[in-house]
Amino acid sequence: MKILITGGAGFIGSHVVRHFIHKYPQYNIINLDLLTYAGNLENIKDIEDAPNYTFVKGDIQDIDQMRGLFTKYEIDAVIHLAAESHVDRSISDPFVFIKTNVLGTATLLQVAKEKWQDNMEGKLFYHVSTDEVYGSLEDTGLFYEDTAYDPRSPYSASKASSDHFVRAWHHTYGLPVVLSNCSNNYGANQFPEKLIPLFINNIINEKPLPVYGKGINVRDWLYVEDHASAIDVIFHKGRNGETYNIGGHNEWRNIDLIKLLIKLTDAKLGRPEGSSEKLITYVTDRAGHDLRYAIDASKLKDELGWVPSLQFEEGLGKTIDWYLENKDWLANVISGDYQKYYENQYGSAIG
Ligand code: NAD
Ligand code: TYD
Repeated sequence: MKILITGGAGFIGSHVVRHFIHKYPQYNIINLDLLTYAGNLENIKDIEDAPNYTFVKGDIQDIDQMRGLFTKYEIDAVIHLAAESHVDRSISDPFVFIKTNVLGTATLLQVAKEKWQDNMEGKLFYHVSTDEVYGSLEDTGLFYEDTAYDPRSPYSASKASSDHFVRAWHHTYGLPVVLSNCSNNYGANQFPEKLIPLFINNIINEKPLPVYGKGINVRDWLYVEDHASAIDVIFHKGRNGETYNIGGHNEWRNIDLIKLLIKLTDAKLGRPEGSSEKLITYVTDRAGHDLRYAIDASKLKDELGWVPSLQFEEGLGKTIDWYLENKDWLANVISGDYQKYYENQYGSAIG
């Protein structure tokens, strides 16, 4: 099987590529990535010489390039992760999200349909999406696969739109598809714009920790390698046309998570317990900040037998260790453009 994985130089994509390369030496993996600010070949350096691996730099919006790639590599299946992924960036620059996430996904769907239409047998378009398409929960309730879509940020609206297009190509053209909607991921190689790696980096460097609003928003955290294993299971066993929610049953209020992160990181740095709590700085809330996300993943468990493997403290500990052991990676990604982003996003609030 020849599998096109898009966005494989990004955070989750790099873990998915590594997982498939090691577990399925009989598959050929073609990793297509534009290497935007979020894409980094260092994330997959350890597997770049694997015999079943090819990297292609390219843009999912470029239909001619995608046609050429499908033909050249005789693609049988797609695992589509390439996207703009950060909510705060979608608030300041929504159009790049619409272009990449909506038009880019529609481009890939169209090319897959063109190339596979004579024989769809054995073909699969797997679309990786987010629980944020379901909107925002109050204190109770969970997101189910049939929860009505109610996206509220430009990011989640663009992902919701792409999900709809995937289903449209399935129903209209018979394209074999499967979708998954996952909760917040954490782990090694996550770009330090998202909460956990941003805060680990700032604790290490004794910089302010910018907590949006009152810190009472809730997220459901899943270790990235558990997401990769769920994608593996859904890719191989998921039913055509179905959607599967993926989550960790692991809800945390931001401020509680931040205090745990401080405790674990201070301990690893040999600082007195809780000493970095003085860095907590409450800043203006994110516009339209979704209050709570929480996933019901029982369909995935009952139908396909997947459950997360890691406890949260263990996963956080491994994640902190990775950032402490990979200071060069961190130094590299926070040089240049990151400084401009950081200044725009946080400059006036925390200096
Ligand atoms: P990321 O921002 O770390 O990586 C995205 C990758 O896509 C980068 O390598 C980037 O270079 C590439 N890319 C961007 N535009 C491209 C284009 N036009 N053509 C080709 N490549 C392009 O994102 P991530 O956090 O790894 O998320 C991956 C996927 O998983 C996304 O679709 C996201 O919506 C979804 N998801 C993420 C989370 C999360 O917590 N991070 C949770 C659920 C779902
Ligand atoms: P984030 O990692 O951006 O993921 P998402 O918004 O997609 O869930 O943010 C996780 C939570 O942390 C969210 O409620 C926003 C909050 N947050 C802060 O309080 N401060 C920050 O600097 C960031 C980046 C996020």
